[in-house]
Amino acid sequence: MTHADTNQSPLRTQDPEVAAWLQREDRRQGNTLTLIASENHCSSAVREATSTRITDKYAEGYPNRRYYGGCEVADGIEELARQRAMQLFAGAEDANVQPHSGTTANLAALLALAGPGGRIVGMALKAGGHLSHGHDKSHTGMVFQARQYGVDATGRIDLDEVRRVVNEHQPKVLIAGGSSYARNIDYKAFAAIAKEVGAFLLADIAHPAGLMAAGVVPSPIGIADVVTMTTHKTLRGPRGGMILARKDVAKLINSAVFPGSQGGPLMQQIAGKAVAFGEALRPEFRTYQQKVKDHAAWLAECLMAQGLDIVTGGTDNHIVLVDLRRTDVTGAAVEERALAAGLSVNKNAIPGDPRPPMVTSGLRLGTAAVTTRGFGRDQIKSIADVITGLVRGADPERFRPTVQGLCEAFPLP
Ligand SMILES: Cc1ncc(COP(=O)(O)O)c(C=O)c1O
Repeated sequence: MTHADTNQSPLRTQDPEVAAWLQREDRRQGNTLTLIASENHCSSAVREATSTRITDKYAEGYPNRRYYGGCEVADGIEELARQRAMQLFAGAEDANVQPHSGTTANLAALLALAGPGGRIVGMALKAGGHLSHGHDKSHTGMVFQARQYGVDATGRIDLDEVRRVVNEHQPKVLIAGGSSYARNIDYKAFAAIAKEVGAFLLADIAHPAGLMAAGVVPSPIGIADVVTMTTHKTLRGPRGGMILARKDVAKLINSAVFPGSQGGPLMQQIAGKAVAFGEALRPEFRTYQQKVKDHAAWLAECLMAQGLDIVTGGTDNHIVLVDLRRTDVTGAAVEERALAAGLSVNKNAIPGDPRPPMVTSGLRLGTAAVTTRGFGRDQIKSIADVITGLVRGADPERFRPTVQGLCEAFPLP
């Protein structure tokens, strides 16, 4: 029960309109199964930390070097978050917990390592990369001279192509990582390619950060010069970003975050990050991440057994990318049908997609959020049955009772 559920809720009393919207979102999440690979449900302890009075505090600068007075609590919280982050990602030499998001973490890292106008190389959005890896509609594609690499016909990163693009473009930064890439990345091979041209290697682990923190998939810590991430996906923290850096570039990174690309840090989010990192340091977190990974592999297996195609034929992480080209439906159509059935999923371009980005021939699924709700293999199989039924054109209403039953049996944390 929250304040908003009672008549003592200051929000409900003062602003019933916003309170009603927020209650509606509580209900939406409760009555929907989230299969969006970039979403998760953080704990109520994390949410509590992010709604505390520290939201009022300005703390420009870094612990013990602030531009405002009264920062002793902010210092304590930020330092705790940093130390926990470095414990969680053992081998990381420095942590900056201030980035407001994954995008600002990438902007700051690129500013620090490439400098304004510098040359960068990242994976193309169409191939599974992220906008902030140099896409021309992102500031990273406007501020830097960006070139992009893709994937091969099987949907995997083609290291020969990465090497070719890097040799042609001679970047200062090579980026490894993506938003819909379901396979492990060979960070050592990327580091070797970066070294050939004297570039820094930036690994963006926004998606698999939690799996990596738990040690269930290989991590770039100790291999990449700088690692950026979001804290709200598999890592299951509050919305935000983080940068881990080698000692020799940490100063550059810190000044590229503040004052380079941000003002005052969101101290309430940093408090939430500290709580989430504390949770991630517990043994249960490893068990959770192992399940997230096993569930994704099982989901891919169930979908393939029912005749659907999966890009790369499976997954190494929490992402399953369905290739709908052999069916007669688009990603957009399945997304809409899924919502009507109570599943939150997203249409996604697949490598070589013939359809435009608002339509697509793919569906990206992720198992982090439903595993947080306590799903096991049987429930994952039920989801696979629903998705296959929707792709084959069954009426979404037919699945609503099954989905509602799962939502009620596995409530939000
Ligand atoms: C690989 C990658 N990097 C960066 C981001 C950006 O994160 P944010 O939405 O917090 O800016 C995302 C978000 O999905 C991502 O997948």
